[in-house]
Amino acid sequence: DLIILAYSGGLDTSCILKWLLQRNYDVVCYMADIGQNEDFEKACQKAKLIGAKDVIVEDLRKEFVTNYMLPAIQMGLVYESRYYLGTSLARPCISVSIVNAAKRLGAKYISHGATGKGNDQVRFELSVYSLWPEGKVIAPWRLPEFFNRFQGRSDLIEYAKKENIPVAATPKAPWSTDENIMHISYESGVLEDPSAIPPTGIYKMTRDLQQAEQYPSVIDITFEKGLPVSAQIPSGQEKALIITDPLVLVETLNKLGGQHGVGRIDIVENRFLGLKSRGLYETPAGTILHVAHLDLEAYALDKEVLRIKKYLQDKMSDFVYNGFWFSPEAFYTRKCLEISQESVSGTVTVQIFQGNVSILARKSETSLYNKDLVSMDIAGGFSPEDSTGFININAVRLKEYARFTSAAK
Ligand code: ARG
Ligand code: SIN
Repeated sequence: DLIILAYSGGLDTSCILKWLLQRNYDVVCYMADIGQNEDFEKACQKAKLIGAKDVIVEDLRKEFVTNYMLPAIQMGLVYESRYYLGTSLARPCISVSIVNAAKRLGAKYISHGATGKGNDQVRFELSVYSLWPEGKVIAPWRLPEFFNRFQGRSDLIEYAKKENIPVAATPKAPWSTDENIMHISYESGVLEDPSAIPPTGIYKMTRDLQQAEQYPSVIDITFEKGLPVSAQIPSGQEKALIITDPLVLVETLNKLGGQHGVGRIDIVENRFLGLKSRGLYETPAGTILHVAHLDLEAYALDKEVLRIKKYLQDKMSDFVYNGFWFSPEAFYTRKCLEISQESVSGTVTVQIFQGNVSILARKSETSLYNKDLVSMDIAGGFSPEDSTGFININAVRLKEYARFTSAAK
């Protein structure tokens, strides 16, 4: 039987590959390039050396940015008010391609190296079952015959040596990372103690503030119906650079944001399984785009729509975090969120400096903002006497409450 294994080239998935081969499966390794810093050529050679029947590498960067990251900005997805979901969004994207590969090759199983305590196993498998209901998943880290044999890293290394699997000479960092074009996450290992300050030098996309740029950068970001469509960036020359390609846009904002130390967080979050976990994230472009989008939204949207949207985006963030990207509830909620964005078009001017993204100005043809209506200098069709009545009516309830509370004393 044929298995497609989501392969990373690391120790875990290399041992899983060998272990599956020893159980007489044919294994094709699948690697998605979603912008992680990885030597794919080397990983391919390693998989073949171990015995993979074939290795598939697919560049999903454009797909990830266009179909997942930018829609997440449009929908305003933020988990527990802080996490921009960089890993959560990548899982359904990878699942689509791995399922397509499995169907193409007539595979029976998909396998992955996610552990039994995490979110990724849930996201992978729920996505796979939604896209391929008759498919089957093998998760070795949840099989007793696997986890009883490999209780820690040293068991894996010992097995690798015995089976002639190349083990990286450089010792692995004492934490786990997950990297893509949107973010890098860091968790477990020395980070497991939330009271311990992370080691310096851990972050890779963003500079420490001491090393950040000395002068601010000003960027214009343009949105169409809530989706970022272009950015105007200082080029050092007289004419600013205008970027419209989604991939280049994200790469450029990552670089610039990184130079200014923008987009780091250190949080404790609630995993779907109920565990709390401490994680560090850096999301430079995502942070700039989210902050700019939020500003344009407040400017353009109706007040009550904004409030309902806030509720729906929290719901949608949970769906995405918990692995329900391909679900009826996510489909429905996403449609609603997209409708809210009809009027969210315009340009926001942001300044990035010393880890901060600050708003300098915004412009929109579709905004509900009415300068005459709010102006202190013009009546603008607003009658001040009406406000007297408005206040009086609102005060009715407060006066009743005051009567009641003073009576209770
Ligand atoms: N806690 C984050 C999330 O659940 C990051 C997970 C990182 N995954 C990993 N395999 N290291 O989205
Ligand atoms: C893992 O367990 O594979 C990483 C952590 C997570 O999925 O939440």
